[in-house]
Amino acid sequence: MSVIAEVKQRLDIVEFVSEYVTMQKAGRNFKGLCPFHSEKHPSFFVFPEQQSWHCFGACGTGGDIFSFIMKKEGIDFGQALRLLAQRGGITLSPLEAPNKAEDEKKERLFQINEAATEYYYHLLSSAKAGEVARSYLARRKVMPETIKEFRLGFSPDAWETIKNYLLGKGYTEKELVEAGLIIEKEEGGSYDRFRNRLLFPICDIQGRVTGFGARVLDDSLPKYINSPQTPIFDKSSNLYGIDKAKSAIRKKNLVIIVEGYMDVLTAHQHGWQNVIGSMGTSLTEKQVEGIKRLTNNITLALDADLAGEEATLRGKAILAYSNAEADVILLPPGKDPDEVIGEEPTLWQKLVEQAMPILDFAFQSVISKVDINKARDKSLAVQKLLPSIYGIKDPVQQSHYLKKLARELKIEESAIRAALRESKAGQKRSQPSKPTEQSRLTRQFVSSHIEERCLALLLQYPELRPLARELSPEHFESTENREVFVKWQHSSDISDLESKLDTSLLEHLYYLVNNKNFPPAIRESEQTRHRDLAQCILRLQEKLSRKLETEKEATLEIEREKGGISAELSKLEEQGINSGQQLQEVFVKKEEKHGFNEGRTHQLG
Ligand code: UTP
Ligand code: MN
Repeated sequence: MSVIAEVKQRLDIVEFVSEYVTMQKAGRNFKGLCPFHSEKHPSFFVFPEQQSWHCFGACGTGGDIFSFIMKKEGIDFGQALRLLAQRGGITLSPLEAPNKAEDEKKERLFQINEAATEYYYHLLSSAKAGEVARSYLARRKVMPETIKEFRLGFSPDAWETIKNYLLGKGYTEKELVEAGLIIEKEEGGSYDRFRNRLLFPICDIQGRVTGFGARVLDDSLPKYINSPQTPIFDKSSNLYGIDKAKSAIRKKNLVIIVEGYMDVLTAHQHGWQNVIGSMGTSLTEKQVEGIKRLTNNITLALDADLAGEEATLRGKAILAYSNAEADVILLPPGKDPDEVIGEEPTLWQKLVEQAMPILDFAFQSVISKVDINKARDKSLAVQKLLPSIYGIKDPVQQSHYLKKLARELKIEESAIRAALRESKAGQKRSQPSKPTEQSRLTRQFVSSHIEERCLALLLQYPELRPLARELSPEHFESTENREVFVKWQHSSDISDLESKLDTSLLEHLYYLVNNKNFPPAIRESEQTRHRDLAQCILRLQEKLSRKLETEKEATLEIEREKGGISAELSKLEEQGINSGQQLQEVFVKKEEKHGFNEGRTHQLG
């Protein structure tokens, strides 16, 4: 048995989740207030039989014990596996166990960064040399509390300040080079990387300093330099401020992404704790991965002059990596969030409230750049926007945007629909039609077997990849399968996938790649494999739509319960029966019936 399976077998999800959520029995299942968003009525369910959880409320998502702890702690699969294995008293094999030497080295780098952060902070906050940086920050209205919370620092205008300090603490020159704090000279010797700069420690989600951003105090260039890639500093996964923002992001179930360090500082200083910084890059897959463990609602604050295509690209990246849809805040020309929040906090509030779906923004910017009286411009606009419309899964939303496009370009909707059909046909040409008969074979497999069979086919027969266009991460309920699928989507081949996967998942990958336990069909003709995969996909789709159906029913049920009580109350009020005593009685009766223990004051208040 794989360690992943062993963890699932040893740990009971009900028991485990109970440590985080107060739950009560609801039929065969358990329910409680969702730990991922704030709510008054329990919409978070745990299903002992499937060993799964689901939030039927704002989150609308669920999974197994792995995804629960990943979401709860904001950790990745490998970390979750280590944590859960330890809980279950399971020893990890060398593959899954963290590499000890590697780990010790990283630990040492974290210690070095921590010591450097402390020292740089000291220099900024209390040393004489830091005066220039203190007054710079004062000019920019950064308060001492913010400086302290973000542990900003200052590196004096000298060559060996941090070097000598850390050597004195017993770290070696080699380690300091590796941490990116000093630079080796070709002719021998070394010097401080950051000189005469304001320092922004960059932390991982757990608040450990992984590296630094450093700004000049005047207009010289480069404005910022950042730590180089190190064993603990990975540019493509950094999100500035994530450690300080994570609980607010969960609570509000929304993250606002800005570009710069200063934007993040000012936002937090003004009470916008759910703001993080992408540090000047467009969002990477790893960044989106980190975010989606906290929320699916992403709002991007974009420069006014950023092209619509660029915005659409970012939105698409978010969709592709996370299935989340993004909204856009359009900043006034020439302003960044730092300036808007600092100068006009109410305008910022308004901009956040008026954030629009990224596709609406793309429409606005594409259409404003063409002359809709020209036929050629019309087709150009259609060409640019159609791929995004094509990507919309929800037919109602798709239809909404088709109509909108027709209206704004003053053309017949049928023309656009025809163009859409054409692009669909182009994409589907290589795909087989859906199998009509349900195979007896596949029905024998329980769902995780189907997930694994599906992955095994895709991994072992790369030519089947086009069929997987019908699949999304949601189709995989087991976290290990979902992780493999998501990484596979963005890999060119198995070895690429291997390098992308967390080491803790490699055993599972090898199991999928080499599995001989699947029925021989998998090794038969190309045609059978094709059909086999198509059936797996169909089963996964059915499973998902059943789940969505349940979700809808549960949501309706919750609404009915809520509505039931308030409807009853208003009926009574209409009849003139409104003494607190009677209302209380009605509510208690309802409460007994539905097993509520929350929301009393809410309902009556
Ligand atoms: P900005 O140029 O918008 O800087 O770059 P800023 O954060 O608003 O800084 P101020 O207000 O001028 O002080 C946005 C982000 O892009 C990255 C940094 O993360 C910066 O915060 N960047 C920018 C660099 O890494 N290097 C650069 O040279 C410039
Ligand atoms: Mn700025």
